Amino acid sequence: MNVVGARPQFIKAGPVSRALQRAGIDETLVHTGQHYDDLMSDAIMRDVGLRDPDVNLGVGSDRHGAQTARMLEGIEDLILDRRPDAVLTYGDTNSTVAAALAATKLHVFTAHVEAGLRSFNREMPEELNRVATDHLSDLLLAPTELAMAHLGNEGLSDRSTLTGDVMVDALISVNLDDVAQPEWARGEYHVATIHRPSNTDDPERLGSIMSALGEIGSPVHLLAHPRLAGYLDRHQLPVPANVFVRDPLPYSKMLKVVSDSEGLITDSGGLQKEAFILGTRCTTLRDETEWPETLEGGWNVLAGSELSRLAELVIRMPEGDRGNPYGEGKAAEAIVEAVAGHIS
Ligand code: UD1
Repeated sequence: MNVVGARPQFIKAGPVSRALQRAGIDETLVHTGQHYDDLMSDAIMRDVGLRDPDVNLGVGSDRHGAQTARMLEGIEDLILDRRPDAVLTYGDTNSTVAAALAATKLHVFTAHVEAGLRSFNREMPEELNRVATDHLSDLLLAPTELAMAHLGNEGLSDRSTLTGDVMVDALISVNLDDVAQPEWARGEYHVATIHRPSNTDDPERLGSIMSALGEIGSPVHLLAHPRLAGYLDRHQLPVPANVFVRDPLPYSKMLKVVSDSEGLITDSGGLQKEAFILGTRCTTLRDETEWPETLEGGWNVLAGSELSRLAELVIRMPEGDRGNPYGEGKAAEAIVEAVAGHIS
């Protein structure tokens, strides 16, 4: 049973779902319904080639406890009904921890894809979700050596396996030459995304970010998650003349516009890595990252506390070979092999 619910999970589950099919393993695909807007859910699922879910729990948005509780109840019912041999859960969202808790309490073998990431910032809901999920799960599928080291430090080595990063599998399956640019992506431009509560929810902080984007000397296309769009509206914040607020893009178009841009400005985890793999400089509006490999050579810079220098940081010149810290794009096979080895 593959459990997904939020945008980054559709991207990660795509290659794994296909690898399960290739291995002849029956899959129940469960969508918790955490994300439900077409641009956050169905459009992404179609774009990454994830098949239609067998079940959508339709939990929608709510406070963390209420949202997670509805998922827990729905997933528990499904596990009791369908009796899977294993449950796979992805990343660090509320859907992730709900799947891990429901499954392990029912003694169903549980595997966590993208295990071992740490920001060491306990104010992030994702950090609490990933620590809890790692300690609950039976099999920890780590994307990097550093993730393996974090799991080791928490006494979890004997449940951990290094698989490489499944987001590389997803990325290399897209042929960027076949993807059409949106018509606004012309000339020199930057791409930005902002959705972390620490950046969106406080009007003063969000206002400072918008002003800093306004200092950048080229157009900034801000692809707005519904959380950001909501807060911009609620706080009535002015949008600088060079900043264009746009709808989120499907996965392949997002890769295309990032790859052709002057640079990415983001607080997303996955996008930091995608920019790094694509060779696009990334400026991260946070003070820590779960992906420190991207900081090598200045390909990524943490600028959460350096908004006043943002305009100069986004045009720095990164140096050096990026190497291959996230693997070769063969993680999905490794994940399926590891899971199958434990349940057969
Ligand atoms: C969630 C994940 C985050 C991940 C992000 C990817 C958690 C704790 N966080 O954050 O790790 O990086 O997904 O996008 O699980 N909303 C809509 N339509 C939607 C979904 C959300 O309008 O389809 C709005 C609602 O106002 C909602 C808010 O966005 O309250 C936040 O959504 P939620 O799923 O709670 O968390 P994300 O911020 O999306």
